[in-house]
Amino acid sequence: MDLPFDGAISKFYADEAPEDVRKAIEGAGKDDMLDPSYPYAEEMDKDDYEDELEALQLELVKLQADVKATGKRVVVVFEGRDAAGKGGTIKRMRMNLNPRVARVVALPKPSNREQGEWYFQRYVSHLPTEGEIVLFDRSWYNRGVVEKVFGFCDEAERAAFFRQLPEFEHMLVDEGIYFVKLWLNVGRAEQLRRFMAREQDPLKHWKLSSIDVQGLSRWQAYSDAISETFAKSHFPYAPWTIIRSDDKKRARLAAIKTVLQGIDYDKKIHDVACAPDPKIAGGLDIWES
Ligand code: ADP
Ligand code: AMP
Ligand code: MLT
Repeated sequence: MDLPFDGAISKFYADEAPEDVRKAIEGAGKDDMLDPSYPYAEEMDKDDYEDELEALQLELVKLQADVKATGKRVVVVFEGRDAAGKGGTIKRMRMNLNPRVARVVALPKPSNREQGEWYFQRYVSHLPTEGEIVLFDRSWYNRGVVEKVFGFCDEAERAAFFRQLPEFEHMLVDEGIYFVKLWLNVGRAEQLRRFMAREQDPLKHWKLSSIDVQGLSRWQAYSDAISETFAKSHFPYAPWTIIRSDDKKRARLAAIKTVLQGIDYDKKIHDVACAPDPKIAGGLDIWES
């Protein structure tokens, strides 16, 4: 099999990965969690996950009906490092929803024309009208993180981004839009394990990009950019929910609960649409721990 990027990911693992990362991956069974600071030793049981997911998806269907009936507008931003599980979480969230009500917006890198626009402009044009839920698979937070790490914007553009951000998000909330910001937080060993699995699976090659490959040796630059971004964007009216994502199952349940928790809807069952596991989801304390 031809490996994408000439096997750059397995080469990184063999030649460059930090010793603790390689050791964690080497010694681990399929269901073992790799990060010693993760609060559970193993992945969540599959049957328990599926039962809970189904109950939560029923709640999402009720939320959808309510959004349509009452004309609510909902925006959920999915952020996180490469391979954090954004795509998979969005997929579970939308699984039983009407694609016209719950839309995914996954924008490519900005075109030449878009580069000449106000940075937020191309995102604004995708905001929901009444009765819509828009799920952003990556968002304007690119300027905070990947654009910093790869030098895709200059310092003046970055400063303008952070200057305008509080007002921009304040306007969304002031408009009455339900606005949720999710950060899926994946550990370094788990990220590398996922990249290697993608490298070995032709069905997943499309998920790998040269940004992912070049990003392998920029873990710390990402961490710095993420810390700065959190410090400048955790607003009382638009806080981050940070979700430990080394276990995809627990992360998906926590993400759905976070969305449901923030919105009241008809026939809500509060025991199901409950607060996410505090060991899995929280505020900046999760990033700092
Ligand atoms: P993804 O992880 O979303 O599948 P990539 O890893 O290829 O995609 O890229 C990460 C993010 O960086 C994407 O949102 C992409 O649009 C953005 N990006 C890639 N190249 C550029 C660029 N030259 N300028 C600005 N943003 C870019
Ligand atoms: P690199 O050598 O590309 O891995 O980046 C080293 C450091 O420089 C990282 O902390 C990056 O975030 C930072 N960096 C790279 N490009 C830029 C840029 N255009 N503007 C500001 N910082 C950058
Ligand atoms: C995912 O696992 O879906 C990721 O978060 C998307 C990516 O690879 O960047």
